[in-house]
Amino acid sequence: MAEETLYDRLGGRDGIRAVVDEFYDRLLADEDIGPLFANADMAQLRRTQTDFLCEAAGGPERYDGPPVREAHAHVPFTPSLIQRAIALLYGSLDAFDVADTDAEAVVGAVAAYETDLLAGPDDEG
Ligand code: HEM
Repeated sequence: MAEETLYDRLGGRDGIRAVVDEFYDRLLADEDIGPLFANADMAQLRRTQTDFLCEAAGGPERYDGPPVREAHAHVPFTPSLIQRAIALLYGSLDAFDVADTDAEAVVGAVAAYETDLLAGPDDEG
């Protein structure tokens, strides 16, 4: 039998979609992070974020959104807001009883983009 991938353990697209929905519910409920989404198309964002995490977990989906740096160039993030978002992602994974090592892999896929998330429109590189 083929080895089970992270994607399989998370419950495939449906399982990952459930975590993403929980994550965005928590982000929107946060008093500092929620307002950043005031003008966002949340339906689209939930779909692209699901694609992103499915791809990162080894699934067949492909992220077709704009580069992460471009997508967030106008969002006034700070390192502490990113850390809080990551804590909310951990909490969302925990709500679905995802094993610690799997949760770390999912969080790692997002945290790898911290520099891109923090970059502003005028930053080089
Ligand atoms: C690394 C994985 C991520 C991907 C692939 C991703 C993807 C995207 C995309 C495609 C957009 C829409 C851009 C557009 O409409 O032009 C967006 C916007 C946004 N994302 Fe992310 N994102 C990621 C991580 C995060 C994290 C960790 C946060 C933390 C709060 C976040 C918060 C936001 C916010 C606030 C917007 C702005 C919406 C707006 O101004 O309309 N994103 N993201």
